[in-house]
Parts: sequence; C-alpha cells; structure tokens
Amino acid sequence: MAIQTEPAANSAAATRGLDPAVVRRDFPILEQVINGHPLIYLDSASTSQKPQVVLDAIDTYYREYNANVHRGIYTIGEKATAEYERARAKVARFINAPDAHEVVFTRNATEAINLVAYSWGRQNINRGDAIVLTEMEHHANLVPWQLLVQERDGDLEFIPVTDDGILRLEVFEVLLKLRPKLVAFTHVSNTLGTINPVREMVEMAHAVGALVLVDGAQAVPHVPVDVQELGADFYAFSGHKMLAPMGSGALWARRELLEAMPPFLSGGEMIREVHLRRSDFNDIPWKFEAGTPAVGDAIGLGVAAEYLGEIGMANVREHERDLVGYALAQLPARVPGIELYGPMSADLRGGVVPFNVPGIHPHDVAQVLDRFGIAVRAGHHCTMPLHERLDLAATARASFQVYSTRADIDALCDGLVEVQRVFG
Ligand SMILES: Cc1ncc(COP(=O)(O)O)c(C=O)c1O
Repeated sequence: MAIQTEPAANSAAATRGLDPAVVRRDFPILEQVINGHPLIYLDSASTSQKPQVVLDAIDTYYREYNANVHRGIYTIGEKATAEYERARAKVARFINAPDAHEVVFTRNATEAINLVAYSWGRQNINRGDAIVLTEMEHHANLVPWQLLVQERDGDLEFIPVTDDGILRLEVFEVLLKLRPKLVAFTHVSNTLGTINPVREMVEMAHAVGALVLVDGAQAVPHVPVDVQELGADFYAFSGHKMLAPMGSGALWARRELLEAMPPFLSGGEMIREVHLRRSDFNDIPWKFEAGTPAVGDAIGLGVAAEYLGEIGMANVREHERDLVGYALAQLPARVPGIELYGPMSADLRGGVVPFNVPGIHPHDVAQVLDRFGIAVRAGHHCTMPLHERLDLAATARASFQVYSTRADIDALCDGLVEVQRVFG
C-alpha cells in the first residue's frame, strides 16, 4: 500500500492570497442548501468550517497509516509518529514558538487553560495570592481560576470594561499593586471582538513579577500571532476555530515553566519509568500528553495552520477588518433600530459583531434567520459576566472567517429586515 508522506498539497486558492470567492471553493460544506437557501455560515467564532486539505489529511491518516504514536516499531506506526510530531512543528512555526517542544497538544483551549490551572496553579497559588482576570473572559478562562482560588484560598480580581468593551488599563495598573501571581486574559473577545493590547499588558504584568496567560482562542484563527513578540508565558488556543478538526487545540508555554510544572493528567505516554509506588515522567511536551492522543486531529491541525499560513495571517486580518467595517456600516443603515455592541472601529476588533434587534429575543432572531439558511449564534456566548456588566440578557452574534464575504453580510441585513417583518 502506498503511504503518502506529505499531506495533500494545499489548494491553489490558498496560495493566491485572500480572495474569499476563491477560498470558498476549498470548503465543501458551503455548497450546501439549507431550507432552500445557500448556507450562509456566520458562526465561525463558535467553530470554523474545514477546508478540503484538512478533510483529506484526516481521511488519509485513517485510510493509510492509522496507528498509535510513540509505540509502533513498524512502518505505519513510525509514519503516524512522524506526522504527529511534524504537525507539532507546523503549529509551533505558525505561532512562532521558539521550540516545538513548547507546544502541548490538547483537545481545545479549555483543556489548555485547565492544564495550567491544575498544574502550575496548584503548585504556585497559595492563600491570599491574587489572580487578575478581566470582565470579558470566556467561561473557559474564568471557571478554572474560580475553582483554583476556592481550593487554594486565593483571590480573583477583574479588570473592568468600558461600555464599549475596552479594558480599563488604568484600573489594571491599580490591581497590579496587589502583586498578583498571574494575569490571564483573552487576546480577542469572543463576544465583542475587542482586540486587547497584549504586549502592553504583558509588560505591565511582568513589571510586578506576575506571569501571563493569554487565551488566544479567538486570535490565532484571525490575526497574526507571534508568541515571542507578545512575550506572554502561556498561550492557549483551539484548533477547531482555525479550520482544524474538532478535538484539536494547543497550549504554548515557555520551556522552563513546562519543565517545572507537575503533570496534569497521568497514565501511559507521559512517563519514562513506572514502578509500583512511583514513576518518572517523560520530557516535555509528552509529560502533558497522557494516553493515546487524537493523532488524526493533530495532523489536521498542522495542515490547517499551514493552509492559513499560505493565505497569510495579515491577509486574513485585513479581510476580516474589511468585513467588520462593512457590517458596522451596513447593519445600522439597513436594519432599523438594530443595536450593536463592542468597539465601533473595525481597527479595534476581530471578526465578531454582536447585536440585538429591539423587542425580539436573539433566539427568535436566529431561528428566523435559519429559515433563510443564515447561521448566527444567539445567547450569552459563554460570557455571562460580560453580558451582566453590559446589562444584556443575551445577544445575537455574526462572526467571520476566511470564507466569509460582504455578500454574507448583505444577506444578514436582508434576513434581519425579514425578522422584523415576521415579528411585526
Ligand atoms: C475566547 C475564547 N476562549 C475560550 C474558548 C473555549 O474554546 P473551546 O470550547 O474550544 O475550548 C472560546 C470558545 O468559544 C473562546 O471564544
């Protein structure tokens, strides 16, 4: 049987920069008709669609070299191991990690953050220690810290947001006087789209000796991310929002931190030697990858990183900046009374536009839009405290990716006018 040593070559669309009309051809799901209309997928902040090259990579793995990794002394086992580790190198390159050993594969951003909270957190947070978060965190970067401080008798403090969703850095400055052990915040808000000034915040935190964890779940798929330039200590993200398979994600952390941290999950794969009463652990990153990993998904993540890299993340950012600017202009002009939230400048936000149509619950908005094949998210988007802060019960949210177009936003505007007509 022929073993393909290289993943399927990336499509021509990806190598030509970002023409969304061309890029869309790489995403078979977008050819679907939903309720008699072409699918208009505006929920990429929740999960992105997957290009053919990623689908092919997973298919090839299962068809041609499905085997466990770091075990099999036979051809397809060695091939699986090589591709799994090659995927790690691709992910490292994508975020400019200095060393692929600093990239730990996880199931998603949530698991990456929990890894830090359980491992680093339980070793380093003690009675009275403060952790600074923000009011705009996804529950994934809030609940693990709540559990940690409850157990370790620590404290949580929060950087507040302004009414238009900008972090109040003058309050952060004051909170830093508490000498927190850790500052953890999102790079890009999944609800408001706000792009936070990571480098500046890292410098402020480091100046008082705090470590910094950045939740990059909404950044890695949308803006250029260079972990060395950002200077954070931990950087967590999901694969499935960056065109990769469900169940893929990663934690990047500085080598010396990972080396000093105790294991998170334990069992096979993460050990070097096991005796009845004690064990020695593997080197990083395998120390943090207990059990059989999601090999095909990790390989798919590597291919997705490569695909986005070929498009160029600066192009992705520019494309989404254009879409956000278009949405911020068109929605109020065409949908009477619509309320938009978050910074009103496309320069300050990623590809996320939350809104409400007054008098109509966002769930009803989403349900009627679905009749036209338009998929938007409705609810609290896993940021209940932020919704509380902005005095909002829920919002609807349109979010973009490389395959999104201005025509999608036009369809959304028309759909929302129809929603208003349906509800009188
Ligand atoms: C900012 C942010 N952080 C964390 C997460 C959690 O991601 P996952 O569910 O892939 O773990 C999300 C998901 O929407 C997110 O938007």
